[in-house]
Amino acid sequence: MVDDALIARAASALASARLLAVSSGAGVSKESGIPTFREAHTGLWAQYDPEQLATPTAFRRDPHLVWAWYMHRRRLIEGAEPNPAHVAIARLQAERPNVMLITQNVDGLHGIAGSRDVIELHGNLRRYRCADSCQGDPTPVDLDGLDYDDETVPHCPHCGGLVRPDVVWYGEPLPAVVLGAAFDLAECCDAMLVVGTSGVVQPAASLPWVARDHRAAIVEVNVKPSGVTPVADYFLKGPAGEVLPRLVEAILSPSLSSE
Ligand code: OAD
Repeated sequence: MVDDALIARAASALASARLLAVSSGAGVSKESGIPTFREAHTGLWAQYDPEQLATPTAFRRDPHLVWAWYMHRRRLIEGAEPNPAHVAIARLQAERPNVMLITQNVDGLHGIAGSRDVIELHGNLRRYRCADSCQGDPTPVDLDGLDYDDETVPHCPHCGGLVRPDVVWYGEPLPAVVLGAAFDLAECCDAMLVVGTSGVVQPAASLPWVARDHRAAIVEVNVKPSGVTPVADYFLKGPAGEVLPRLVEAILSPSLSSE
């Protein structure tokens, strides 16, 4: 359990920032019951390596298999609700206009919790697009009314090509606008709160290092040390759903608000 004094010191560093960036990863959704990317391969899917499935090559080779894997992941996400960590971040944003949020998660739970202007680095599994970007990149596709099931990939209503989830796959670049917004924020923020990421998947893993190089204070919340920990000024060890509500309460406390 993180002690109150450490929470208070970290909260003070975050409360004094003119621009505060929050950067989240799969750990923030863990307490909503969503397995992290690398844990998601259970049951029927245990024989597959997610890093081999989430690639453009795999989709070209066997679109039905990749589609079925994403339908499995979509069901996990659709059955989940925001947990106290998502709610705490949304509360902080509601109270403070200077708090911006970047996430690697594709589950959309930050938005459902009420967070605004979420920079979704890896896309969103609740959105779909034409795999050939036939009307421009991206060409959004609404699945309602399309013919599909777990094994049948829907066809694009514009060009008849295949539809894919609007997420970033291994080997694909992140959308330039999204990536630019995230790195601008990392360069400009005075503090970054990093929650529940292993800090190993690039380019997202570089964000805390860039922020640190620009003299931002770094606060990390994780159940165990990660690739971010070497640059963290404060490491708050514990589940995000327990630590974040306390941290946000401290940031918003009248004593820090009046500083
Ligand atoms: P990871 O699965 O790599 O790491 C999850 C992190 O969350 C680990 O550091 C855990 O210790 C931590 N964690 C677990 N439970 C937690 C809890 N209750 N509270 C706080 N922390 C907790 O997830 P990411 O770093 O988000 O990319 O993974 C990044 C990317 O790897 C994903 O977005 C995905 C995957 O490749 C793409 O799909 C492009």
